[in-house]
Amino acid sequence: LTQTDVTPVKATPTLPDAQTVTEVKHYTDRLFSFRCTRPASLRFRSGEFVMIGLMGEPHPETGKQKPLLRAYSIASPSWDEELEFYSIKVPDGPLTSRLQHINVGDQIILRPKPVGTLVHDALIPGKRLWFFATGTGFAPFASLLREPQTYEDYDEIIITHTCREVGELTYGRDLIAALKEDELLNELIGEGFWKKIKYYPTTTREESPKMGRITDLMRSGEAFADLGVPPLSPETDRAMICGNLAFNLELKEMFEEYGLEEGANSRPAHYVVEKAFLD
Ligand code: A2P
Repeated sequence: LTQTDVTPVKATPTLPDAQTVTEVKHYTDRLFSFRCTRPASLRFRSGEFVMIGLMGEPHPETGKQKPLLRAYSIASPSWDEELEFYSIKVPDGPLTSRLQHINVGDQIILRPKPVGTLVHDALIPGKRLWFFATGTGFAPFASLLREPQTYEDYDEIIITHTCREVGELTYGRDLIAALKEDELLNELIGEGFWKKIKYYPTTTREESPKMGRITDLMRSGEAFADLGVPPLSPETDRAMICGNLAFNLELKEMFEEYGLEEGANSRPAHYVVEKAFLD
């Protein structure tokens, strides 16, 4: 044996379930997205979420570190070889105050156990599929909009996205614009599949072509008039909701008035709801 063979190599500290960051994009001072490697064994359905995070700060006395994890919707579709996430930056948020500073080559923790209700399996067949999002609640729809099944199962897809400011719409707007050029979807679904999409972005705290909360715009009938469709009905419409708590509750109440029933993986129905991540 040579000397080098017996010298113990100092182990490089590697995170459990570590994945490597491959791309980071910042949209506003409150929003960013990033991509990372995907574990070869990870299978998920478009629209599901996983727990991701970073190693927490060492305990002041014991020095022990525990993973700091949060539920994040996977924003990339199930067929993508990488994973994408869309995140808020909360200045004093335990995770996002640090996660917002990640760079390409850094490691994050990803627990490979996908779950969630914003999946095609939780809805019964229908004609028109609605996505209702506020802020980072757009993430699961970023996955589903790149999933061929979305266009196979529905004649029309309507995406509503309500944000405070115009800059917060960029991630969604760019993604929808890119669908037009998506070679895989064009090949699988047929050219022009993206014409099935109606995009309805609104802002509440900055001037934009369509202002107001989507809930108010639906109650007044303005949203339906703009989109040229009737209000949601259990016969034709299916919906997925992902936003802040008040938004989710308000829409649930409206849907029950329309006669829509909430579905789940075990009992598919007309609509499904999930809370958008807030640190
Ligand atoms: P608003 O500015 O009127 O509160 P947040 O960043 O606070 O999660 O909000 C994201 C977007 O969701 C904002 O445009 C906000 O509008 C809107 N919003 C908040 N609560 C509701 C609700 N109950 N119904 C519809 N939109 C809502």
